[in-house]
Amino acid sequence: MTDDIPALKQAICDIGRRAWDKGMGAANDGNVTVLLGDGTLLCTPTNTSKGFMTPDMICRIDRTGAPVEESRWKPSSETRMHLCVYEARDDVRAVVHAHPVYATVHAICGKPLTQQIMPESTMFLGEVPLTPYGLPSTDELSDAIRPYLARHDALLLQNHGALTCGHDLQSAWFKMEALDYYAKVVFLASQYGGAHEFDPYEVDRLVALKNQRFPAPGRHPFIDR
Ligand code: 13P
Repeated sequence: MTDDIPALKQAICDIGRRAWDKGMGAANDGNVTVLLGDGTLLCTPTNTSKGFMTPDMICRIDRTGAPVEESRWKPSSETRMHLCVYEARDDVRAVVHAHPVYATVHAICGKPLTQQIMPESTMFLGEVPLTPYGLPSTDELSDAIRPYLARHDALLLQNHGALTCGHDLQSAWFKMEALDYYAKVVFLASQYGGAHEFDPYEVDRLVALKNQRFPAPGRHPFIDR
């Protein structure tokens, strides 16, 4: 099936707007890529507010990060990190990087998200690990995340932000929304006496429920051990 490129470019702009509306980044923060059937990628432009993109601003690059279309917009400075995800995972078709406040606070305070406290976060994210710090836009950052990609679709990037991936753009975006919601609830619960956590039996039941009722492509740390 061929890709509807105009629709995908519009969808990237819509997600940039939703991320900006939700405060998932300041100024020019964040980037999105989508892998197309021909092996090229759509990519947000660097150094622009992702809340105010128009489809003509979306770049098209190859698997080395080089532009394949004439454009006055330059691709994101974080394309290496995105390309690393596609190299590690042939099931992934979209990657979202953002700096959502609660997820970023966890990433900056050195706190991975490990508490099992809500059905949705347990079923759809499991745990969210904290990957080591790497200098933005360099191979350091790709090297830092690579070991985690086999088991996780959502990562906290130490002292930086968050990254999610999915079999399509909506699924990568939903994981970013779910990740920040999970981080927010964990943070607020910690101010309010601490969350009640599920016991291992309840976690097992939720994972079984996910497998039965909500099977979805992607990786889950309690299933892909
Ligand atoms: P770009 O504008 O180059 O995509 O960079 C934004 C960002 O969030 C870097 O981590």
